[in-house]
Amino acid sequence: MSDYSLNAKISYRQDLNDELMIIRVSPLSGEVPDFTPGQYAELALPDPQDLAENKKIPRRSLSIASAPSEKNYLEFYVVLVPNGYLTPKLWKLKVGDKIWLGPKVKGKFSLDPVPPTSNLIMLSTGTGLAPYVSMLRHFKGQKRWNSFTLFHGVRYERDLGYRAELEELAKTTDNFFYIPSCTRETNESWRGETGRINTLLEKNVYQEITDIPLDPANCQVFLCGNPEMIDSTNLLLESKGFKPYSKKTADGNIHFERYW
Ligand SMILES: Cc1cc2nc3c(=O)[nH]c(=O)nc-3n(C[C@H](O)[C@H](O)[C@H](O)COP(=O)(O)OP(=O)(O)OC[C@H]3O[C@@H](n4cnc5c(N)ncnc54)[C@H](O)[C@@H]3O)c2cc1C
Ligand SMILES: NC(=O)c1ccc[n+]([C@@H]2O[C@H](COP(=O)([O-])OP(=O)(O)OC[C@H]3O[C@@H](n4cnc5c(N)ncnc54)[C@H](OP(=O)(O)O)[C@@H]3O)[C@@H](O)[C@H]2O)c1
Repeated sequence: MSDYSLNAKISYRQDLNDELMIIRVSPLSGEVPDFTPGQYAELALPDPQDLAENKKIPRRSLSIASAPSEKNYLEFYVVLVPNGYLTPKLWKLKVGDKIWLGPKVKGKFSLDPVPPTSNLIMLSTGTGLAPYVSMLRHFKGQKRWNSFTLFHGVRYERDLGYRAELEELAKTTDNFFYIPSCTRETNESWRGETGRINTLLEKNVYQEITDIPLDPANCQVFLCGNPEMIDSTNLLLESKGFKPYSKKTADGNIHFERYW
């Protein structure tokens, strides 16, 4: 039986809009676990009644958005799922409130298998952006990739979390390309992309913006978030000669993290 004592607290909360927030969770022990950018941690808010009755406690995985060098907290980028189990409870918390943080950081969605000469193509829907924020923060200034192109698909412009940080990075870094796309925005002031991110890839927006061909020989593609986006993009990439990464054979160039 796991120990579900509330072992961490909310140390920061930023509401981007009614349904999106960035939170930081600090272990009460002061010891933030080591992790590799791209990995996730688990959070839970156990119901005392469930604990008393020894019921199974639902935990939820959340990708870490902070860099491993940040030793005071783990940062998470979260969307409210109105009928979900954890997120409506999470939305009621304020700074200082306690929460359960899983003792082990997990996941294989990382740059570990990727050579530093790669052109990275990172696709995300919604909060699927989080692991890339961690990677960008951690490897900033290092020659960890040849280029890093980040597609972020959201419904509305107001859902573009981390936008200022990413725009600033794109302005100051030659080999970083930030491609946000708002699929339902009606405000005419939005002048960026409007298609689903897999459709943008299909329409060759990647090469148009970066001047780099979508070539399995030197591109590695990461997909994170909505599982249907992952499935459609996989099909598209496989038709272009890409294949899912396999640890066993240590080859392949598609990596993915399904959020549900
Ligand atoms: C490896 C991994 C990493 C994850 N990282 C994040 C993260 O960084 N941020 C985050 O917000 N969620 C993330 N998720 C999803 C997260 O685990 C929860 O499912 C989510 O927070 C909703 O929890 P819930 O209990 O309120 O609803 P649940 O009962 O877990 O979900 C109910 C339904 O909501 C939808 N849904 C769930 N998560 C999302 C989402 N992120 N965006 C859009 N629709 C969703 C799905 O249709 C799902 O079936 C991750 C999932 C996995 C497996
Ligand atoms: N964001 C909001 O304003 C809002 C409002 C009400 C409720 N919610 C709740 O929040 C949850 C998460 O919403 P979210 O906006 O973060 O995530 P989302 O619904 O996954 O949408 C994020 C982006 O993914 C795209 N997308 C959806 N299905 C796709 C597919 N099959 N292939 C490729 N792209 C796809 C969406 O495009 P499309 O626009 O074309 O679908 C959008 O650009 C929802 O489940 C909902 O319960 C959100």
